[in-house]
Amino acid sequence: MNLVNSLENYWMPFTANRSFKANPRILVRAEGVYYWNDKGDRLLDSCSGLYTHAAGHCHPKVVEAVAAQVAELDYAMAFQMGHPGAFELASRVAMLTPGDLNSIFFVNSGSESVDTALKVAIHYHKARGEGQRTRLVGREKGYHGVNFGGTSLGGLVRNKESFGPGLPGIHHMRNTALPEHQFVRGQPETGAELADDLERIVQTYGPDTIAACIVEPIAGSGGVFVPPKGYLERLRAICDQHGIVLIFDEVICGFGRTGEAFGAQAFGVTPDIMTMAKAITNGTIPMGAVAIDDAIYATITGSAAPGAVELFHGYTYSGHPVACAAGIAALDVYRDEGLFERAKALSGPFLDKVYALQELDMVSNIRGYGLLAAIDMVPAEKPGQRGNDLLLKCYEAGMAVRVGGDTVNLAPALVAEEAQIEEMVSILRQTLLELG
Ligand SMILES: Cc1ncc(COP(=O)(O)O)c(C=O)c1O
Repeated sequence: MNLVNSLENYWMPFTANRSFKANPRILVRAEGVYYWNDKGDRLLDSCSGLYTHAAGHCHPKVVEAVAAQVAELDYAMAFQMGHPGAFELASRVAMLTPGDLNSIFFVNSGSESVDTALKVAIHYHKARGEGQRTRLVGREKGYHGVNFGGTSLGGLVRNKESFGPGLPGIHHMRNTALPEHQFVRGQPETGAELADDLERIVQTYGPDTIAACIVEPIAGSGGVFVPPKGYLERLRAICDQHGIVLIFDEVICGFGRTGEAFGAQAFGVTPDIMTMAKAITNGTIPMGAVAIDDAIYATITGSAAPGAVELFHGYTYSGHPVACAAGIAALDVYRDEGLFERAKALSGPFLDKVYALQELDMVSNIRGYGLLAAIDMVPAEKPGQRGNDLLLKCYEAGMAVRVGGDTVNLAPALVAEEAQIEEMVSILRQTLLELG
């Protein structure tokens, strides 16, 4: 590609802008599990976009659906008007969610899905006469996007330290990692009692002040922390006991990453509200959604006067027709190509290959479940330097990787072939050897 534009004006998200602009990495095309850059090099995509492209890039069925929709109805006023695609996609999503999570509210990103879920939880308590319940509980190392609710509840210090005090009434449980979890594959046997942190917060502030507790079933961006056996069950029981709304942030776990539709089904625990985004449209058009339990929907809508708006919340692009078309096509592909089952079958071989990296001196820990894994590297002098070096070396070697600090996250597309996973891990192995 001929770069006629200056690189100066675009302020890139979560990017070291000055070093990037000195040494840009420009992607110009994608297909399946590959990108191509402006130099014509092919790059293996080891993170399915950003955990978005479960069915691989530019899936023809999704591309076709988007093109047809944009030519037919490019937008429908989102408030007090509807269009068929939004109702159809909501029904389709509700068919995949567990329990009674049947009301689907559309948003445009994972961050918006989180802030929407928090507002719904607080509104629910108000509607049932407990308006004093406004405290919210998250977890250390959690990532819930970058809006103010999600930033406040997230537990990654760099994402919070520059943005003031955040929302009031926020509490954090400990992360679920324990020293004995070194190189544990799948769910650790120990650590269910870490859920008792929620009980401790309840006892400190009073159960009738707490609105909701939000966790990712597997903490993804923080470094793939898989819940210990019994942990999510215990959180569920504590929430039930004290009338706290349990929210699962399924933005990464959703749509097959765990081998089931959602983390909730993989771990057998049903929350009251679930957030999702990313793979809902196979990453082709920005979209997120919140799935809400029937009882919460009924309480909120039932508390409003007949004919009145029930929830003063929504986005110009909630349920955008083109996003809905992409979503319906993506769910068709997941069903028709049996991708959730495929992810389940591929998980064993994937984790075998990833865990074989533990013999390398540079690797200090590995965590993994389904088609999601994190590899911690021994840090260099400056935290994050090793991760950055790895990213640059992998790019030169023909692979796009996602690193957070000195941890590399792997999340191959659900359509990846075993040979492609083998190639991913072997590029990573070679790079780790060169680094250490
Ligand atoms: C669990 C979780 N929640 C929320 C988000 C935020 O999503 P978005 O970047 O679409 O706003 C992410 C993004 O990675 C995520 O992993």
